[in-house]
Amino acid sequence: MGCKQSAPETNTRSLTAEAAMADKLPEPAPPDPTDPRLPLDPRQVFKLKKSWKGIKRCMESTGVEMFIRMFRSNTDIKRLFAKFAHLKTEEEMRVDEVLEKHATTVMATVDEAMNNIDNVDFVLTLLKHRGNYHKKIPGFTSDLFWAIEVPFLEAVKITLGDRYSDNMDRIYRITIKFVLKTLVEGYDTSNAVS
Ligand code: HEM
Repeated sequence: MGCKQSAPETNTRSLTAEAAMADKLPEPAPPDPTDPRLPLDPRQVFKLKKSWKGIKRCMESTGVEMFIRMFRSNTDIKRLFAKFAHLKTEEEMRVDEVLEKHATTVMATVDEAMNNIDNVDFVLTLLKHRGNYHKKIPGFTSDLFWAIEVPFLEAVKITLGDRYSDNMDRIYRITIKFVLKTLVEGYDTSNAVS
């Protein structure tokens, strides 16, 4: 699958030396608060960006897993995807290049949002634009965006394995809600975009 595990961090300094140094240092300034439109605090943003690096190495497999799980729990949705509606079994879906390409394109938008999560103006514009794009898809309605929420979380959990802690679960849940809510808002704005 080509997903590389991240190497464990090595620490060359001894703990005692580090503790002695820390004693002498002034308290670090608290990080700037995040934009109030973003439902994550600075620590959560830091953790999310760090964790997302593990997904970046496995974008295709995470995306395919997400789509397979979405189709598993919502069989009707597959009809919207003319390009791969004919695929019947999960085995067929796992090896289909067209599905993989689409899943990777969708993940690329999520990736762009994650990479810029603390640039809220940029993220809102990006996601609203992508959300609005779905207006031209026959049969699509904005409530369908939520069908990808749980599949996304499950796919991320599978890819991250042990690195998907309870805290990361909380952070990813908040983040995907923010992403989907913004896509819906973009869809619901009146003018269609290309
Ligand atoms: C994280 C959420 C989502 C993002 C970021 C997203 C993004 C995108 C993007 C970037 C495209 C254009 C792909 C291309 O040009 O090849 C697209 C197309 C499409 N999306 Fe989404 N999408 C999301 C969720 C969904 C969901 C939940 C559904 C269905 C329930 C859906 C249905 C579609 C369909 C039917 C197309 C057209 C596919 C085609 O080219 O035939 N999307 N989406």
